[in-house]
Amino acid sequence: MERYVDTDTEVLEETEELTEMEAASLSAEARAIEIEHQMTDDERFSLIISIMGYVPGSITGGRDPRIPEDLKNMSAGYTPGIPRLGIPAIQSSDASMGVTNPGYRPDDKGATAFPSLIALGSSFNPRLAREGGEAIAKEARIRGFNVQLAGGCNLMRDPRNGRNFEYFSEDPYHTAVLVAEQVNGIQSQGVISTLKHYSLNCNETNRHWLDAIIDPNAHRESDLLVFQIAIERSQPGSIMTGYNKINGEYAGGNHHLLNEVLKGAWGYKGWVMSDWGATPDWTFALKGLDQESGVQADKVLWGKEPFVNDLRNAYAEGKFPRERLSDMVRRILRSLFAVGVDQWGPAPDVDMERHNEIALEGARQGIVLLKNDGALPLATDKPLKIAVIGGYAQQGVISGIGSGAVTPVGGFAGVVKIGGAGVMGKHRNLFLFAPSPLEELQKALPAAQIDFDPGYTPAEAALTAKRSDLVIFFGIRVEGEGFDSADLSLPWGQDGVIDAVAAANPNTIVVLETGNPVSMPWRDKVRAIVQAWYPGQAGGMAIAEVLTGRVNPSGRLPITFPVDLSQTPRPELPGLGTPWGTPTTIRYDEGAEVGYRWFAQKNYTPLYSFGHGLSYTDFEHSSLRVTGGETVTATFTVTNTGEREGADVPQLYLTDAPDGMRMRLLGFERVALKPGESRNVTLTADPRLLARFDGDTGQWHIADGTYKIALGKSAQDFTETAEVTLSQRSFGH
Ligand code: BGC
Repeated sequence: MERYVDTDTEVLEETEELTEMEAASLSAEARAIEIEHQMTDDERFSLIISIMGYVPGSITGGRDPRIPEDLKNMSAGYTPGIPRLGIPAIQSSDASMGVTNPGYRPDDKGATAFPSLIALGSSFNPRLAREGGEAIAKEARIRGFNVQLAGGCNLMRDPRNGRNFEYFSEDPYHTAVLVAEQVNGIQSQGVISTLKHYSLNCNETNRHWLDAIIDPNAHRESDLLVFQIAIERSQPGSIMTGYNKINGEYAGGNHHLLNEVLKGAWGYKGWVMSDWGATPDWTFALKGLDQESGVQADKVLWGKEPFVNDLRNAYAEGKFPRERLSDMVRRILRSLFAVGVDQWGPAPDVDMERHNEIALEGARQGIVLLKNDGALPLATDKPLKIAVIGGYAQQGVISGIGSGAVTPVGGFAGVVKIGGAGVMGKHRNLFLFAPSPLEELQKALPAAQIDFDPGYTPAEAALTAKRSDLVIFFGIRVEGEGFDSADLSLPWGQDGVIDAVAAANPNTIVVLETGNPVSMPWRDKVRAIVQAWYPGQAGGMAIAEVLTGRVNPSGRLPITFPVDLSQTPRPELPGLGTPWGTPTTIRYDEGAEVGYRWFAQKNYTPLYSFGHGLSYTDFEHSSLRVTGGETVTATFTVTNTGEREGADVPQLYLTDAPDGMRMRLLGFERVALKPGESRNVTLTADPRLLARFDGDTGQWHIADGTYKIALGKSAQDFTETAEVTLSQRSFGH
């Protein structure tokens, strides 16, 4: 049946042949329509905005009088409820890695700081994303927050993008599967989750003035496919638009993307909210935006709160139709009812120890062993003299910054002010989470004698390195919202310190805490490289466990590490270094060929490819069998041929197609195996991954012919290949 229902009568007539889920969704819709009928215009207009909480010292001024004095917990967004109609206030909080508090709630004792999404992406484990989502939602609920601004799912198109740590990967299918489970976890607790930022918010440079240009068909096969699949799998209550323009129109006022694609082709029924400070104009309401978020941010940026004043005036003057206002309100109500925000019982029990375990498991599975010549794991029983150098490893592990940064229980172990240009400059801090890797390593290596050296100068660090049996260097780079990195180097001369240390003691291991690939000019001079990303509050422990072999590393890269920027689609980043406010155009000419797909097209060999990650055991893939027809189904066997228990992540790729060479990740599965154990795996591809999108017909098209398939350990390391025939067809939308 047609999923989008627009009038009251249609809703009532169509209730008979429905599944339970459809019936629940329809009943939410029917209730939304019924309640919206009873509302006054003042009430309608009150629902389509949110008001930002007060953070001392923020540019939005003091506490907004529209937030009631007695509201206990302020957060990113507040929309008053309508008690006479049983509609609760909407209170939204950031974000994808835990419940944040950039200063809204001085008495809040802190929340669980989960690993960054790039780490969660490295786990290739949807179950972890779901468990984390459930935990985040519980911590939101006890604070009264019923919307979690989670579900960061932009594709990592550029290794300089400051917010890549808030996203899952460079691959649409991988991102969609993981983000959908985060949303499912959150919404299972009666808290709405967003998916954000729709769409192509893939660089931070001049993000409010950034025009992201892309071929519309390629967009459907990449960034938009993420949203399409994730929406199907998780029905998020709301979609947040990005700051940027897409093909000339702001994301929040993009008729094509909002009305035609999201709400039209995909039949999305929830509401579209703007990002904070991303609604410059009331006409966005005509183009598909349903709610203006954090209205004071628009006042600062654009000098007005368009949905508060201009939209009302337009309504009074007959330029803004009543039906559209009703639609905006109904969409909001529908999601509140569908997720059960109005049916909250008592607050859930929150087991913070359990949440710490989930954070720990995320960090463990998210750490990627990039290189190991046998130096790892460390022998735990030897009286080694170890130098731990750099990265504030004596204090903690670092976090990414911006609206997604979580303050842990008990506060940060340290805050180093870095600063920077532009409005976000003063927010650039080095936030540290205890426990520190240093103390965790000492616990895990009781027989070792560990010296800490801050890595202050190359010469000094080399002296410490020289008198040790082994060096563990912690390389860090703080990245985050509002900034793109200028290049792929480690800051503060750390690359030079690693060089000096490795020259003084070749027995050097590097642990990286970064939000993106870095260039590693010292790669061949060190014995092992561990990518720990921003691993969250339990990261110090997870790093020590991986280094000492208590945990067998199992993370796989969700982003390609280029040799240098010349291998990327944009060696020069448009607008980088220009003053804040400079109109900037980025042409994403690589289209859908993002990350490993680009490397395959260009035949480039990266530093480390998508999907790469070593283990302390070995895995074998065998017996690949592939069938075709409508889509590709592959079965194969994975065997742990080594001596330790571990997890493999076999990956299935399309490597060539009759209508043009292209590479696509078709499926993956995390398989935990004991030594000698085997498991059979079956993966079936979403047919859209084998197809091309045809904007003229609005359908996906699979061409007749032979498709090349590869099973692999990464996008460049194939274990088996096969060919399969698919029959021509057009489908979907
Ligand atoms: C970010 C969003 C966030 C919002 C609310 C914006 O700066 O881009 O991701 O949810 O702030 O804090």
